[in-house]
Amino acid sequence: MRHLIGIEDFSNEEIDSLIATAEDIIADPKKYSEVCHGKKLATLFYEPSTRTRLSFEAAMMELGGGVLGFSEAQSSSAAKGESVADTAKVISCFADIMVMRHFKEGAPMVASLNSTIPVINAGDGGHNHPTQTLADLLTIKREKGRLDNMVIGLCGDLKFGRTVHSLISAMSRYTGIKFILISPDELKIPSYIKDEVLDKKGIPYEETASLDEAMPKLDVLYMTRVQRERFFNEQDYIRLKDSYILTPEKLVNAKKSLSILHPLPRVNEISVGVDKDPRACYFKQVLNGKYIRMALIKFLLEEAGK
Ligand code: NCD
Repeated sequence: MRHLIGIEDFSNEEIDSLIATAEDIIADPKKYSEVCHGKKLATLFYEPSTRTRLSFEAAMMELGGGVLGFSEAQSSSAAKGESVADTAKVISCFADIMVMRHFKEGAPMVASLNSTIPVINAGDGGHNHPTQTLADLLTIKREKGRLDNMVIGLCGDLKFGRTVHSLISAMSRYTGIKFILISPDELKIPSYIKDEVLDKKGIPYEETASLDEAMPKLDVLYMTRVQRERFFNEQDYIRLKDSYILTPEKLVNAKKSLSILHPLPRVNEISVGVDKDPRACYFKQVLNGKYIRMALIKFLLEEAGK
């Protein structure tokens, strides 16, 4: 049984093929409107979500399938003390594929070990968020026409930002990629990502606290929210939350061809004044997220022989 727990679960060829399917869906959505007829997607969300859950639900509906699920742990049997393993066994009786977001790192992996249907990780604590990465890759591909040979700046909460961890893992597999990791000292990228991904593969990267210095070098700027819910103390959050605020003025030295991405939700880190800049791609990224999730659901159901 194939699952998507981390982006490493898919080969480059599989990712390319998902992107190609998503582009075909964009070109001819009617062709796909019945491919999941009679199939059900379960969404198990133990943490807040707007885009990820609703884009999965919209994706399944646009494939002609049905959806069921819960959007908070309190309304599920987790509130009575049910384990993730048991929940996964139960959901396997009701649905053909499940999507799980959980505050605990590794919870979707536990679900996959106890499930008889494909499990998709929709974000596990501060660890991984592979379907956001698929949305990011589709966006970069559509904006730039390629996924190789570029300088990618990741800015903000690189410590707790799970989207950043999955994106680094994915982009490190393409040639000619350089990362500029822009964060305050306290929110630097975890050392396991440096050791196991960047250094291991010999990927060039710089760490800096200055967005201004990095700006002119960037082909992609990936802004992130400071992840309040992962802080141990509110004081630290308050001190760090406005470390970076992207404004039109800050973009004066940026390349004309820059693409600005953000997984959203944003709080303060991109001023609304940037939204009308043609380089702002974050709302296109949301729509791309729905198309790539359609491609992903179709792929995993086919792999499962459904
Ligand atoms: C991200 C997440 O949940 O990690 N949101 C999303 O799924 N698009 C980013 C965030 O919450 O900051």
